[in-house]
Amino acid sequence: MNKKKFSIVTFGCQMNVHDSEKMAGVLQEQGYSFSCDPKDSDLIIFNTCSIREKAEQKFFSELGRIKTLKKKRPGLKIAVAGCIAQQGSDEILRRAPYVDFVFGPQNIALLGDLVKGSRTIATEDNPEIAEIDLPVRRTGTGRAWVTIMYGCNNFCSYCIVPYTRGRERSRPSSNILREVRGLAEEGFREVTLLGQNVNSYRSDLDFAELLRAVNLIKGIERVRFVTSHPRDLSDELIEAIRDSEKVCEQIHLPLQSGSDRILGLMNRRYSYDDYRRKIDSLRNNIGGISITTDIISGFPGEMSEDHDLTISALREICFDGIFAFKFSPRRGTRAALMENGLSDDVGSRRLSEVLAVQEAITERINKGLESSIMEILVEGVSETDREMLSGRTRTNKIVNFKAEGLSIGDLITVRILKSGKHSLIGEVV
Ligand code: 5AD
Ligand code: SF4
Repeated sequence: MNKKKFSIVTFGCQMNVHDSEKMAGVLQEQGYSFSCDPKDSDLIIFNTCSIREKAEQKFFSELGRIKTLKKKRPGLKIAVAGCIAQQGSDEILRRAPYVDFVFGPQNIALLGDLVKGSRTIATEDNPEIAEIDLPVRRTGTGRAWVTIMYGCNNFCSYCIVPYTRGRERSRPSSNILREVRGLAEEGFREVTLLGQNVNSYRSDLDFAELLRAVNLIKGIERVRFVTSHPRDLSDELIEAIRDSEKVCEQIHLPLQSGSDRILGLMNRRYSYDDYRRKIDSLRNNIGGISITTDIISGFPGEMSEDHDLTISALREICFDGIFAFKFSPRRGTRAALMENGLSDDVGSRRLSEVLAVQEAITERINKGLESSIMEILVEGVSETDREMLSGRTRTNKIVNFKAEGLSIGDLITVRILKSGKHSLIGEVV
């Protein structure tokens, strides 16, 4: 008998990408086989994201499109997972009655039951999530993701994550270290430790201690982590990054706004000055560290003075790169109820300015890397030019280069020939 095939369409963040790897792992255990073509599958799972309205719209239009496929092949099963599923299972089943089952990010372990048809909705809170280790079908090339904690307790006023992923729960360090050792044995050279707020990881170890322990694992050459909350970035953690030679000189540290008034409304619990001091300490302790951030433009009540403070923060700090978004009200969050007073236009205009100011900074920083020598982990064929290979520096910059006889996971040295906005061109030395 032919094995049943599944495919997964993933929206959103790295956490979702890794959740999809776990869903695939569970399905393989159930005797399903992976297919990269949804049209050729017996089960299609949409792993959804609800962080901003745009992501939600994208999913609902895809879901509408799949209806015709289901009509043609009534045996096809369609499932919705992820953050939209967690918050809106009833709405999904009402808008798309052809959906067979819906489950949230805390209930991937139940996928085996769900495919057997024993229930249609699994969105309950799962306090045991951090104790359960699911099988993972890895898709990364040379590098692997490892969840260290689930959920978030911060309740930033704009953010839906604490409502979809639940309370913070840290995995036991022994389970994490066992997983990383296994990855090293499988040939992975790089691991990224994942959590909504890794700095508040706490089991028998805190995050700084966990990093030092991962650093000792033989076979792993590079360690990264996302995402950090500025308030929880301790001196101990900065020292652990500095002392651990495998922990890369790179951090993603979301600022969100340069205005203390807006940071207060966002419930971020740090001031711009606090943030600035952490950046100074990171740069003083960790030579060549690359720093990226997230910015939200057009938060409710943002005045042009607040926006100007964000622009001057970008100029002062000189991030290596940023992700910037226009504020998107999310149902159930506090910010969705705040008096806005901003037209859509103003938000868009401010976002464009933020992006333009940063683009010039990123270009200048990347230009400064030309003719430098850097270590690259080979990840595979470049997405932009199939004739080239692609890899990342320890500082997480993408470098494309021509070479033969290399394999995924090789660590090589390149000279940077040319810089661009989003990537660098190098030659093997
Ligand atoms: N609107 C706009 N951006 C948001 N983010 C989170 N919630 C929202 C929202 N409601 C951004 C933040 C966060 C990143 C992952 O997404 O900048 O750091
Ligand atoms: Fe959302 Fe804030 Fe938690 Fe990040 S720290 S997931 S922005 S609530």
